[in-house]
Amino acid sequence: MIARVLNWLDARLGLRTIYDTVLDRKVPKVNWSFTLGSATLFLVVMQAATGIFLTAYYVPHPDQAYDSINYIMNEVAFGWLIRGIHHWGATLMIVTIVLHMLRTFFYAAYKYPRELTWITGVLLLLVTLGMGFTGYLLPWNQRSYWATTVGTSITETVPLVGNFTNQVLRGGEDLSTLTLARFFSAHIWMLPAALIALIGVHIYLVIRLGISHVPQKDE
Ligand code: HEM
Repeated sequence: MIARVLNWLDARLGLRTIYDTVLDRKVPKVNWSFTLGSATLFLVVMQAATGIFLTAYYVPHPDQAYDSINYIMNEVAFGWLIRGIHHWGATLMIVTIVLHMLRTFFYAAYKYPRELTWITGVLLLLVTLGMGFTGYLLPWNQRSYWATTVGTSITETVPLVGNFTNQVLRGGEDLSTLTLARFFSAHIWMLPAALIALIGVHIYLVIRLGISHVPQKDE
């Protein structure tokens, strides 16, 4: 029965071709460090799932943000767990993405024909750091408020556009309701949209070009 349903779907959607191309690819003999990209991808999915749950209770307004986080931690069923996974997942993702980048660098996987995989990777790193930066403000506690004050004021040092960039980030001279609103918007819409698009291209390139192998002595 299940086989008949799958055959019916396969005839119309080409499921087997997708399965063969994406999951049943030939890979060279590699080591565990080649799993760091997939580990990062797993964490992206985890962050998205826990982040979506958090938006059910989090309120992006200076009057309520801090209390809504307290409510998630103390009142919501398993709220502490979802927030804990999101919090530590973010830290772990920075660790895995950096290790993944170091792996591809030291194995020279950025060379022809994988230059674009590297370039999309660099953009992914920047977007991921942006996710961390915008997410840090959301609890609206003393630490996040002052860390963002310092973080945004660093842009002031850029010649010519520094002051303008700082104002765009903060939505004015100081941190306010506008800052929290735009950081929240960037954290849940703008940066994730960029992340999904870039991951799509990155993974497409990994599938299209195949994975690199461990460089040998005589290469
Ligand atoms: C959200 C971030 C990222 C995700 C989800 C991701 C995912 C992946 C996956 C699943 C692979 C397959 C091989 C492996 O797992 O090592 C891969 C390969 C690759 N990634 Fe990433 N990556 C990310 C960020 C980066 C960064 C920051 C760089 C470098 C600046 C990078 C450069 C590369 C390169 C050059 C390859 C090809 C490796 C090879 O063929 O051996 N990636 N990526």
